[in-house]
Amino acid sequence: MNILTTSQKSNEVIQEEAKALAFSMHMTYIKRGKTSIPALFGKYQCEYIAVLAGSGLTIHFPENQQHTFHLSMAQLRILRIERGEGDHLVNAVQTILDRKGLHEGETFTFIDSTIGLASDSIIVSYAFPNAQIQGLEGSFPIWLATSYGLEHYIHNDQTVTNALRRITIKYATFEKYLPKLPDNSIDIIYFDPMFEVPVEESPQFKPLRGHTVESHIDDKIMAQAMRVATYGVIIKERPFSSVFQNYPPHQWVGGKYSRIGYGVYMKELM
Ligand SMILES: C[S@@+](CC[C@H](N)C(=O)[O-])C[C@H]1O[C@@H](n2cnc3c(N)ncnc32)[C@H](O)[C@@H]1O
Repeated sequence: MNILTTSQKSNEVIQEEAKALAFSMHMTYIKRGKTSIPALFGKYQCEYIAVLAGSGLTIHFPENQQHTFHLSMAQLRILRIERGEGDHLVNAVQTILDRKGLHEGETFTFIDSTIGLASDSIIVSYAFPNAQIQGLEGSFPIWLATSYGLEHYIHNDQTVTNALRRITIKYATFEKYLPKLPDNSIDIIYFDPMFEVPVEESPQFKPLRGHTVESHIDDKIMAQAMRVATYGVIIKERPFSSVFQNYPPHQWVGGKYSRIGYGVYMKELM
């Protein structure tokens, strides 16, 4: 059961908003009253509870963890881009566009197959305002928080808010979604799965431990991605991961010898 409720101090406007949101997300609206979150978990035995308040949507987990959409690393990366320090993912996308001869401002389609908290998609959207970006997320609570955030979060810089609003997001796994797409229908396909061998846990993912989808990129997915992509595929993983052993990238961005690498694959070289 996917439950959505309000904060204890909600008013009628928030309650109506919560009902409408629950309906649109195919969730069950529960009138909160003064019931505590642990009491709700005790009563409904669910994996998470979404709580709408005036400040936004928070996902609560039984292990006393909670998650609310925030810009996390995207904020820092935007500042770095603004300072002219660049960004590995932006460079990886640019590598593909350059090889295809695309000029600045030309549009292209981009699927972020593992959108998570959307930091990467926000960066791509910010750096390439003409890109059409669609994200996939296979974990319902993460999808819920990210889709709400992309639609409602307001940054004090309007260009950042606009970058969020341009991204669309689907609750789907890439294993199920990519095979439904026609050949050569998306210009660039990006994957950032949970690492095969985790690096130190990033603080923003800590509350989500146990709630992420953990699948990895196997031969079937690689074949699907290459079939669907028009220009190429980008994979973020640790350089010694099995996907990079089985499919050595055509180009590395971020470095083969770094902790994390961006492998770039060009369609015409596959
Ligand atoms: C490392 S995180 C991605 C972080 C993301 N790039 C960002 O900038 O926030 C991986 C995310 O992909 C999701 N995921 C993993 N396998 C997936 C799959 N097969 N289909 C869709 N989402 C998946 C996980 O639930 C998790 O939220």
